[in-house]
Amino acid sequence: MRILVTGGAGYIGSHTLLELLGEQHDICVLDNYSNSSPEALSRVRLLTNADFLDVKADIRDDNALMNIFQDFQPEAVIHFAGLKAVGESGKVPLTYYENNIRGSLSLLKAMETVGCRRIVFSSSATVYGEPQYLPYDEAHPCAPTNPYGRTKYFVEEILKDWATSSFKNSAVLLRYFNPAGAHSSGSIGEDPNGIPNNLMPFISQVAVGKRDQLNVFGGDYDTRDGTGLRDYIHVSDLASAHMAAVNYSAAHTGVEAFNIGTGKGATVLEVVKAFEEASALRIPYVISPRRSGDIAASVADPKKAQELLGWKAKLTLNNMCQSAWKWQSQNLEGYGNPPEN
Ligand code: NAD
Ligand code: UD1
Repeated sequence: MRILVTGGAGYIGSHTLLELLGEQHDICVLDNYSNSSPEALSRVRLLTNADFLDVKADIRDDNALMNIFQDFQPEAVIHFAGLKAVGESGKVPLTYYENNIRGSLSLLKAMETVGCRRIVFSSSATVYGEPQYLPYDEAHPCAPTNPYGRTKYFVEEILKDWATSSFKNSAVLLRYFNPAGAHSSGSIGEDPNGIPNNLMPFISQVAVGKRDQLNVFGGDYDTRDGTGLRDYIHVSDLASAHMAAVNYSAAHTGVEAFNIGTGKGATVLEVVKAFEEASALRIPYVISPRRSGDIAASVADPKKAQELLGWKAKLTLNNMCQSAWKWQSQNLEGYGNPPEN
C-alpha cells in the first residue's frame, strides 16, 4: 500500500516506519522536523535496508500538501504530526489548535483531492480526563483537561464527521496510553527537547548523569505505593498497532476508536526499580509535590483492540527499560542535532 506518514521522523513515527517497511509498503514521510531530526530517518534506512520518500513540509502548508498528494497518490495516511507537550499547550493554546487541528483539516482536504479514504490518527488516553472508572474502555466519557488533550478530542470529532460523510471513508483513532522504550537495536529512540516532561526519558537522563535525581511527583496518591500509576506501552508494540490499524482501515469503513495499552499499570517507583534492574545502576530520587493536572492512575482496557484489530501488547516493562537504557547509553545526545525550526 502507498502510505503517507506525517510526523514520521518523530519518536513513534520512526518506530512505525520499521514495521511498515518490513511489510514492504511504499512510504512517504512528511515532517517539518520541529521536534525531530532527519537522522532518525537515516537510521531507519540503515536498520531496514529499505528506502522511502521523505519530504520536509508542514501539514499546515496547503500547497506543499497538494503537491505531495498529487505526486505520491497515497492510499492511506498515518497521521502522527502534531505538538504534544501538555504543559506548553496551556501556555500557547492557539499554537496547539493551529498546529494540531488546522494541520489535520489541511491534511483531510488534501486527502479528498486525490480520493484518499483511509486515515489512522494518533490520539491519546488524555482524551478521557479524570477517570470515572478504571480501566478506561472506549465508551468512557471524554473530558480532556488541557488544550493538548482538547486538540486530540476535537480532531477525533472532526474525523467522526468526515468518516460518516461518505460510505467510503475510514478513520481509525488510536488512543495511546504511555509510550515508552526504544527499538531493541538501541539505534532509534525518544529524543526529547530540553528537560524531559515524561517519566522514562527523565529516568534515562538521570541514569547517564545528565540529571542529578528524579523528582517523583506525589507520594500520597491512592495507589499501591502512593506514587502515580500508568499503563506503559512499548513503542514497538505501539508501532505494530499501526500496522494492524492500517489493515483494519483497508477492510472497514466508518470510524472506530481503540485503546492502545497493556491493561496493566506500574507505579513511578516500580518503573524506577525496573530501570535500576535493566541498567544495573541506582536512580536517585526524591518524593516531591504532586504535578498539577496529574491523575492518580490511568490504565487501559485493551480488549477492543485485541478483538477487532487482532493486536495485543507483547513486551513488558522490563523490555521498555532495557531498550530505553540501550538507546540512551548508546546515544548520550540523542540524534545529536538540535531540531530545526
Ligand atoms: P514527536 O514529537 O516525536 O513526533 C511528532 C512529529 O511530528 C515530529 O517529528 C515533528 O517534527 C512533526 N511535526 C509536528 N508538527 C508538524 C507539522 N505542523 N508539520 C509537519 N510535521 C510536524 O511525538 P511522538 O511521541 O512521536 O508522538 C506522535 C503523535 O502521537 C503525536 O500526535 C502525539 O500527540 C501523539 N501521542 C504521543 C504520546 C507520547 O507520549 N509520545 C502519547 C499520546 C499521543
Ligand atoms: C503525560 C501527559 C499526557 C500524555 C502522556 C503521554 C500530563 C499531565 N499528561 O501523561 O497527556 O498523553 O504524558 O505522553 O503531562 N512523573 C514523575 N516525575 C517526572 C515525570 C513524571 O514522578 O519527572 C510521574 C507522573 O506524575 C506520572 C508518571 O510519572 O505519575 C508518568 O508521567 P508522564 O510520563 O509525564 O506521563 P503522564 O503524566 O501519564
